[in-house]
Amino acid sequence: MTAQNDAVSTLSLTRPDDWHLHLRDGDRLAAVLPHTAAQFARAMVMPNLTPPIVTTKAALAYRDRILAALPAHADFQPLMTLYLTEETTPSEIRRARESGAVYGVKLYPAGATTHSEAGVKELSRVYPVLEAMVEQGLPLLLHGEVTDPTVDVFDRERVFIERHLVPLVARFPSLKVVLEHITTREAVAFVREAHPFVAATITPQHLLFDRNALFQGGLRPHHYCLPVLKREVHRRAVLEAAVSGNPKFFLGTDSAPHPRSGKESRCGCAGIYSAHAALELYAEAFDNANALDRLEGFASYAGADFYGLPRNQAKITLERVAWQVPEEFPFGAERLLPLRAGERMLWRLRANSPSA
Ligand code: DOR
Ligand code: ZN
Repeated sequence: MTAQNDAVSTLSLTRPDDWHLHLRDGDRLAAVLPHTAAQFARAMVMPNLTPPIVTTKAALAYRDRILAALPAHADFQPLMTLYLTEETTPSEIRRARESGAVYGVKLYPAGATTHSEAGVKELSRVYPVLEAMVEQGLPLLLHGEVTDPTVDVFDRERVFIERHLVPLVARFPSLKVVLEHITTREAVAFVREAHPFVAATITPQHLLFDRNALFQGGLRPHHYCLPVLKREVHRRAVLEAAVSGNPKFFLGTDSAPHPRSGKESRCGCAGIYSAHAALELYAEAFDNANALDRLEGFASYAGADFYGLPRNQAKITLERVAWQVPEEFPFGAERLLPLRAGERMLWRLRANSPSA
């Protein structure tokens, strides 16, 4: 950290948005939503529930449940997504657009990650739906990993780009595409060089950790997410993209809560919970890179601009005040272990900080 950086002790930002978030449902939703609503004005809510949110009707009902679970006086808008399957119809896309509540359509390659079984096996089968999305101006949100078991798990994003994304973007040049939670230098290069309708979200964990964090003194299930953490060279490339000021790269936490029992298990679930301290984690990453002045563009402007939504007006303040992350949070009948559990954070959100 430089002397100049040390001098910065508070940071005022336009209220940010989270462009990639898992909220779950029921009492789990009620447990995690206050964290996000305290930090973000809006969030793009992922549809991978069981069963997945495949219709506009289901998305609207889920939206109602989220609104009902909001704490009193919260100022938060959920932006809904549809889960793309090979059965999704162009008319469903039109309904989604007309609802005014659905802002994107999420494509999970079948089997790529948590609750992706209903996802897409063969991309060409959804071409008519992608045409409808172009017509309706609905962006495609991509989990960009191949599921081919012969491909090394650390190469799945790079291979997805080569095999599927390059041809997809060439075939649908007017389709807005967000490559979610990018983790590799190849993804950074692809997005940077692609046409302006292609953007990417970046999580806090992929800015702060490389794959050594999975094996720090033992196996660390709470550092396991998909796409999995990568080598340091990739972390650096992703960090450089985030702090570059290029508006194609913006904030999406991919905060993905699982019960502690599901993570610390024989076959642990993928997903890192970061909503309790999301902005503070990003602030730390940007501070480490000497780029706090770029945080507002990344967190508060670029995503809204990409989606064609108004920028938020309200302001928030981050301060350089140390605090300790709780060991656990309640999670319905279970417990949730957050990122940095029991550890020190260097930045804190001044108002509404759930753990302050
Ligand atoms: O780590 C992940 N967890 N990656 C995903 O793509 C899904 C998410 C989840 O829903 O748990
Ligand atoms: Zn996700």
